Amino acid sequence: MSIVNAKEIMIPAAKEGWAVGAFNVTDLLQFEAVIDAAIEKRTPVIVQTSVKPSQFLGTQMMVNIFRTLAESAPVPVCLHLDHSTSIDYCKKCADAGYTNIMIDASKQSYEENIRQTKEVVDYCHAIGGISVEGELGTVGGVEDQIKVAEDEAQLANPEQSIEFVERTGVDIFAPAIGTAHGVYKTKNPKIDFERMAVIHKMLNGNGIKTPLVVHGGTGLPDDYVAKLLAAGGAKFNVSTELKHTLLDAKWEYLSAHRDEYDPGKLDVFVRDATRKAVMHWMDKLGCEGKA
Ligand code: 13P
Repeated sequence: MSIVNAKEIMIPAAKEGWAVGAFNVTDLLQFEAVIDAAIEKRTPVIVQTSVKPSQFLGTQMMVNIFRTLAESAPVPVCLHLDHSTSIDYCKKCADAGYTNIMIDASKQSYEENIRQTKEVVDYCHAIGGISVEGELGTVGGVEDQIKVAEDEAQLANPEQSIEFVERTGVDIFAPAIGTAHGVYKTKNPKIDFERMAVIHKMLNGNGIKTPLVVHGGTGLPDDYVAKLLAAGGAKFNVSTELKHTLLDAKWEYLSAHRDEYDPGKLDVFVRDATRKAVMHWMDKLGCEGKA
């Protein structure tokens, strides 16, 4: 039905207290499974690729898959570039047809983060139809080429967050609040819900202008997800869980069917496992029926 950018589907989410699921994919099968889930749940959805899978499959190939699937899907779909530290690659993906671009200059100095983020915002806004995500503070853990050690992770300062959003013009904003990429090392990770709520109020208290993004979805306890929704999270990123689902499902199927050489059956099994995992997330985010 519609190709959309992230901001336009996050605004109603932020207003109404639900969130759009943003799922990292590495191949066509996962891409299809995410769209299957969105259609079944009648929800807008964000499909995202980090830099390496996007480069491996090819930027234009990713966009072509996106257009083909999104144009025939009866729900709004956004294609997001996740955590690009390269301004050039952000521009390349914007030119190719990604509809949300994340420039991740969060490891740079504050001023350099602003400069790089603004350059990408200006570029994407000049093309039109593309929203841009920026990050302040650093999210711990590993996501693709980004590695942040636990003792390196820094939370976003609320006052600086407001200034960052104003000076860069980002459309959606990811403040570091203690969530981490990968599998959490403890059952109860230390998340600063209050900080998230304060930043949300300062940015969006007089009407939603810059919806907030939660990174590090994998392993967040359900009650944490609910608290982050209440604190203003309007996009939840999930990557590691889908990688585990992909590989575990392949392993499970192949172990049980050692003598079968029918890749189609394996693909059906994996696509279905992925669809179910994505739908489970959609239930937690309250996005069912919002498309
Ligand atoms: P997880 O890998 O922890 O789900 O985090 C995903 C993410 O935040 C991608 O940007």
